[in-house]
Amino acid sequence: MKVSPSILSADFGNLRADIEAMNASEADYLHIDVMDGVFVPNISFGFPVIKAVQKVAQKPLDVHLMIVKPENWISQVRDTGAEIMNVHQEACLHLHRTIQSIKQAGMKAGVTLNPSTPVSTLVDVIEDLDLVLLMSVNPGFGGQKFIPQAIKKVQQLRQLIDETGSKAEIEVDGGVTFETGKPLAEAGADILVAGSYIFNHDDPAEAVRLLKSL
Ligand code: DX5
Ligand code: ZN
Repeated sequence: MKVSPSILSADFGNLRADIEAMNASEADYLHIDVMDGVFVPNISFGFPVIKAVQKVAQKPLDVHLMIVKPENWISQVRDTGAEIMNVHQEACLHLHRTIQSIKQAGMKAGVTLNPSTPVSTLVDVIEDLDLVLLMSVNPGFGGQKFIPQAIKKVQQLRQLIDETGSKAEIEVDGGVTFETGKPLAEAGADILVAGSYIFNHDDPAEAVRLLKSL
């Protein structure tokens, strides 16, 4: 299993220490949650913070934009050195065009689905995608309770990917722990995002290792 620790639950007063702990862990990515207070009822941080994180991070950045009109920010995301740019399906009027633009900018294109958005909305773009991020909580906050329907959605998405020959990876975000991660792994998830589980753990690198073992 690949693991993408979300710094939303890190100590913002001492981000460097938490990023360095992740550098020294088995984490595969660093998950960066950007919120605009419009698409979701919360505001997190923006590009100056991501650039500062990038200077310390030795893991590739997995940027999750919870913002309206994410297509307006593609070059700014690219300039942070991000490897993956995730946009919400619900935030994109012209999703196909946005996916192409992200790839033209040299990043991996990811599309994120809210818990209420069906996997079937991706049928016409699945072959263009590098990644699908399934939300297992309503986006906006760390530390929420896992929504079990996400397990079925992973199965449905795995089936769609296998049928179409898409190379998209399946990432799951929200309420992920060692316990909720297990059925997600069995259902076919490739990458697990975890914030509070990792950063509230006595030993965050051990929490990463536990998720990696799934
Ligand atoms: C929620 C964010 C998540 C969040 C996950 O809107 O997209 O990445 O940090 O936090 P946990 O793992 O605590 O649910
Ligand atoms: Zn996220």
